Amino acid sequence: MTELFVNLAPVLRGAVRVPGDKSASHRAVLISAMADGESTIEGLSTGDDVQRTLSIVEALGASISTLDGKLSILGPHEGLVAATHPLDCGNSGTAMRLLAGVLTGVPGTHELVGDESLMKRPMGRVIDPLRSMGAEISGAANDLPPVAIVGGSTLAGIDYQVPTPSAQVKSAVLFAGLKAVGTTTVHEAIRTRKTTENMLTEALVSVTSKDEGVGRVVSLQPGRPMPRHWHIPGDPSQAAFFAVLGLIHPNASIGVVKLLDEDERTGYIGVLQRMGGLISQKVKDAHPALQIRSSRLLATEIFAAEIPSVDEVPVLTIAAAAATGVTSFRDMSELRIKESDRFAGSMMLASSVGCEVWSEGDDFFVRGLGSATNFVHFAVDGGLDHRIVMAAAVAATAGRGGVIANWETVESSYPQFFDDLSSIQ
Ligand code: S3P
Repeated sequence: MTELFVNLAPVLRGAVRVPGDKSASHRAVLISAMADGESTIEGLSTGDDVQRTLSIVEALGASISTLDGKLSILGPHEGLVAATHPLDCGNSGTAMRLLAGVLTGVPGTHELVGDESLMKRPMGRVIDPLRSMGAEISGAANDLPPVAIVGGSTLAGIDYQVPTPSAQVKSAVLFAGLKAVGTTTVHEAIRTRKTTENMLTEALVSVTSKDEGVGRVVSLQPGRPMPRHWHIPGDPSQAAFFAVLGLIHPNASIGVVKLLDEDERTGYIGVLQRMGGLISQKVKDAHPALQIRSSRLLATEIFAAEIPSVDEVPVLTIAAAAATGVTSFRDMSELRIKESDRFAGSMMLASSVGCEVWSEGDDFFVRGLGSATNFVHFAVDGGLDHRIVMAAAVAATAGRGGVIANWETVESSYPQFFDDLSSIQ
């Protein structure tokens, strides 16, 4: 186990360009591999999660090459074929769940495995709807990985209400629907990221999407995606680390540029503004960019529905730790089944910097210290969770420094995170 010593930074200035959006990157790779012909991708996420998806589609018969910094994926004319070995998704739940949907349409036997963290994550949420479409798919005990699939059976489109908001589940069903007979419809009670439906539409698949109140209905007709050129903008969830850092740091004026434009991904900005954060979003070079300045934050009440997927909660916990008053995090059950138990992990982070924290059912509470300058120097273990490591690094840089064990897990989504953090100091 290696430890990283993160020091407090006296001043933060400059702008960061975060890696390509992870969700869009997985989808660009998968859609290109399913297409007939050559697609190119610019701005692909550099993290190990997306590299796994790339290696897996190569094992399934797609040809990958790089020319002039552009990645090319050639989807085989006859379609993807089964690999001769288990498909290792590493740390990536997105890879495993999306591939489950894709592989139901690929003839042959497939097995999806992952690292120690992923092997503990629930797959029943994708197995159930895919099975009701006619797929031969099963998990181990309690529907944990490995996931075994016999692809190529006749699938029928379904009308599916996703029980818990999840873009991964929606996407697995839609990808399976590409090879099903008839229409596949997915209802979400709360809108999640629309990356899959947008990108399938760009690949000329027939998809309709209609917002209903705070929910959405997406319908898809079977078809094969067309190859295309993908340009992937920056990941708004990675920008959240710099947003919180700039706000809670006593002497900061920083930017994050070239971000993906999607309402479902920027709920955290509204939360931070409500806390009094001086954070603004402008269009610069045709993409959203954030400008962030040191702020005095006040506690608030944060609902999971405001930030579907709750990816930004670990770092929002650090904002709460620097705020004045008690911040409530409500309906946070989904946090428990991410790359680690982020419910426990987020509370652990706030407690490590010196806050009083407590929980009631699916809610947890953080009594803020009024300023990051009141944080204590701390030591934490990032476990197998990149977002816990990056949130801890934000706390250390804005507060009194800290030590992070198992920090290397940032490789899964943002290998250059610590370089980018140094670049603004
Ligand atoms: C993702 C969906 C979310 C999110 C994950 C990426 C996606 O998961 O947490 O980081 O790309 O579809 P859920 O679908 O479990 O909410």
